[in-house]
Amino acid sequence: MRGLFVTGTDTGVGKTFVACALAHALRSRGARVAVAKPVETGVEGEPEDACRLRAAAADPAPLAEICPYRLRAPLAPAVAARLEGVTIDVDGIVALLRRRAAEVDVLLVEGAGGLLVPLADHATFADLAAWCALPLLIVGANRLGTINHCALTARVAAGAGLAVRGFVLSQPSHETDRSGATNAETIAALTGLPVLAILPHCTAPEDVAALLADVWV
Ligand SMILES: Nc1ncnc2c1ncn2[C@@H]1O[C@H](COP(=O)(O)OP(=O)(O)OP(=O)(O)O)[C@@H](O)[C@H]1O
Ligand SMILES: [Mg+2]
Repeated sequence: MRGLFVTGTDTGVGKTFVACALAHALRSRGARVAVAKPVETGVEGEPEDACRLRAAAADPAPLAEICPYRLRAPLAPAVAARLEGVTIDVDGIVALLRRRAAEVDVLLVEGAGGLLVPLADHATFADLAAWCALPLLIVGANRLGTINHCALTARVAAGAGLAVRGFVLSQPSHETDRSGATNAETIAALTGLPVLAILPHCTAPEDVAALLADVWV
């Protein structure tokens, strides 16, 4: 499959923001981009992440293909699904992603939370990334604590045999701390993986699209 699996060190670190910025960057180069948020939880009405991704990529696919599982409880997918009596068909998700990837130049898939979040009873998001054979883009928040979270995520990725394209550090909060100046170099040295971009806190993903030019080469 041609694409990236956008995972994070945690929930709320900037996965959707980075994926949207990347979709803008790719579109500005003329690439056809498809997006997917296979399971979104905490959904009341429209799935927010899926809609943001769809708009950024100008993906014409129906929402049911971009986000096949929308669950109400703001919980990990497997937990929310169990609560709502929904069976998440992981093989079906993989087949859908394969088909969608074949229609475009780049498929961007956003997970939920991080790699070890349970997707279904016997599958995590690391398993989904492996079954899709998509390299990871790991998003972390550029704040104190991210070194440990990024290194843990890289170790889990290596243990699962996943290829990692690199890290992107985002800035979900306008508040910064002193670690922001040295996190990237420390993470790169510790993991041996590149930090591909450091995003400032900004108004909209399109404002930082140019900083992600090297993420997809
Ligand atoms: N560089 C940035 N500049 C401004 N706002 C940002 C930046 N990065 C992230 N945000 C904001 O931080 C919040 C969390 O980001 P986002 O929704 O992308 O996280 P996420 O990892 O996708 O979360 P979830 O696990 O819920 O899917 C959002 O309001 C987003 O707009
Ligand atoms: Mg998100």
